[in-house]
Amino acid sequence: MRRRTARASARPRVVVTAGPTREPIDAVRFISNYSTGTFGYEIAAEAARRGCRVTLISGPTALAAPRLVRVVNVESALEMRDAVRKAVRDADCLIMAAAVSDWRPRHRSARKLKRRGRRTILELTENPDILREAGRAGRPGMVVAGFALETEGLEKNALAKLRAKRADFIVANRLDAKRGLFGDKTIDITIFDRLGKRKAWRGKTKKQLAKIVLDKAFSFNI
Ligand code: CTP
Repeated sequence: MRRRTARASARPRVVVTAGPTREPIDAVRFISNYSTGTFGYEIAAEAARRGCRVTLISGPTALAAPRLVRVVNVESALEMRDAVRKAVRDADCLIMAAAVSDWRPRHRSARKLKRRGRRTILELTENPDILREAGRAGRPGMVVAGFALETEGLEKNALAKLRAKRADFIVANRLDAKRGLFGDKTIDITIFDRLGKRKAWRGKTKKQLAKIVLDKAFSFNI
């Protein structure tokens, strides 16, 4: 367990990440995912309403910056990692809602790649795990929350992520093939925490869930 130091600050510093990352292939192309960033933006907005000093580290989205939130725009996972490292130095809480790409192209071509026959192989390399690293880089006692999007084995995979990423809690949602998830109006989540507690919510909007996620973070004595 991480060392907890008391710093019950009047205005807790909260760092939230949101949106997808873009991993460049060449001058005009990238790999990304369907994340809209909505959940992370709602969490940042709610934290600001509660009087927190909020830094929102955002991948490319179509969303407007929430009121009273400092936004740091990034594109790739490596840029997000640098921004998170800086921001967590004096943070009380990190909520990693971003859909970070697990891989990036091994080489980035400065020029636009030309067509090279009918089959092209793109070599990928793993991106760093920002959440796992941040737990170490952050202030001792910082509350750390991660997200887990699963198509199967929700509980098993969420608990594995909770441990591997040494998070205080994981917000898990199942990707329903019929309903989709990214950008969906209402979703179901289960929160698993490091004390072995779990709780599920069904059919809530991301705005409602943002409150639930922050209540959970504050329960860890930010
Ligand atoms: N995450 C991260 N850095 C990465 C990948 C993910 O910080 N390179 C964070 C996400 O922001 C999220 C959590 O880790 O809070 C879980 O992300 P997910 O992609 O579901 O987990 P992975 O560890 O990548 O596991 P897998 O994709 O194999 O399910």
